[in-house]
Amino acid sequence: MSGRPRAVVDSLPQYKPGKSAAQAAADHQLSEAIKLASNESSHGPLPSVLAAVADGANLLNRYPDHRGQALRAAISEKQGVGQDQVTVGCGSVGLLQQAFTAYVGAGDEVVYPWRSFEVHPVFSAIAEARAVTVPLKDQAFDLEAVEAAVTERTKLVILSTPNNPTGTVCSTHDLNKLLDALSDDVVVIIDEAYLEFVTDESVRNPVTDILPRHHNAVVFRTFSKAYGLANLRVGYALGHSDVIGSIDKVALPFLVNGLAQAAVLASLEVAAEKELEERVVEVINERTRVTEALLNLGWPVTPSQANFLWLPVEKEAGPLFQRLEGQGIVTRPFEDEGVRVTIGTPEENNRFLEQIGPR
Ligand SMILES: Cc1ncc(COP(=O)(O)O)c(C=O)c1O
Repeated sequence: MSGRPRAVVDSLPQYKPGKSAAQAAADHQLSEAIKLASNESSHGPLPSVLAAVADGANLLNRYPDHRGQALRAAISEKQGVGQDQVTVGCGSVGLLQQAFTAYVGAGDEVVYPWRSFEVHPVFSAIAEARAVTVPLKDQAFDLEAVEAAVTERTKLVILSTPNNPTGTVCSTHDLNKLLDALSDDVVVIIDEAYLEFVTDESVRNPVTDILPRHHNAVVFRTFSKAYGLANLRVGYALGHSDVIGSIDKVALPFLVNGLAQAAVLASLEVAAEKELEERVVEVINERTRVTEALLNLGWPVTPSQANFLWLPVEKEAGPLFQRLEGQGIVTRPFEDEGVRVTIGTPEENNRFLEQIGPR
């Protein structure tokens, strides 16, 4: 006997991280491989960001600013909201976990469309909540069905838009319609981890078009994807000060480290933003090019608004993933559902297209 974990923890599977490119190369005796599995940026950090991190390392002996005050100030200024309407966390996934801690107790209900981000069922299980899942309709969210699934026991509704792994979005109109219909004691998380890659004009900025109308809505964003800082783990939330305050209360002390705070501040400088935007434009253009190429090769592809593509190949998912990995390309399989492929650099994408070949 080595301790007695809670039954719910005992029943959780051990976390299995995706393979690194180096591991995949070693497993298949290849000289190298590429990873298109985790929706990261393929580009390394900007020189200005690297310099800020190196400088920040001089203070490794000191705890960082607990509240990340400079970061909150910079984000609130950029987003045009008060500082009490912003919080920062250990990735947006950390903020999601804090939202569960703040709002969800045993027996409460959490509503989310499924398939979506893998952590939703895990966090629901840990909270001993009832996960109420709403099936996708044509790979996208069915918000009318989400509305119908909400009961008086519902504490949270979680909507990832763009959705991971399908890359589909909810329009601002539909989100407002859902929020109009729901009681304002249900917190609705609008998870916009991939916002910067969205070109669909039905999606407007929730900070101006949703949050002022609905104080129970909260927007989660991240510096992991478009800003290329996945390794540093910084996300932020925007919402009414009551919701932000509750999420803040359950934060671990000093949870955003000083190097991460320095990197984000450097990334929010005008010149850095411009360079990062060029990278985002490259991803958007590549997304179109790779989608068309895959369709021409006979593969099914869901139109994506994110930095990845969803190939709903169903039963072929496992074999396709295995074949690509053997050819030096690590993707993300979802057994019997599909394969998710991150948009990389043009060279990486060419290599993926050559290896996947015609269906
Ligand atoms: C939909 C969605 N939300 C949130 C996240 C979490 O990102 P992070 O914790 O790195 O901010 C991810 C990461 O893959 C995601 O796909």
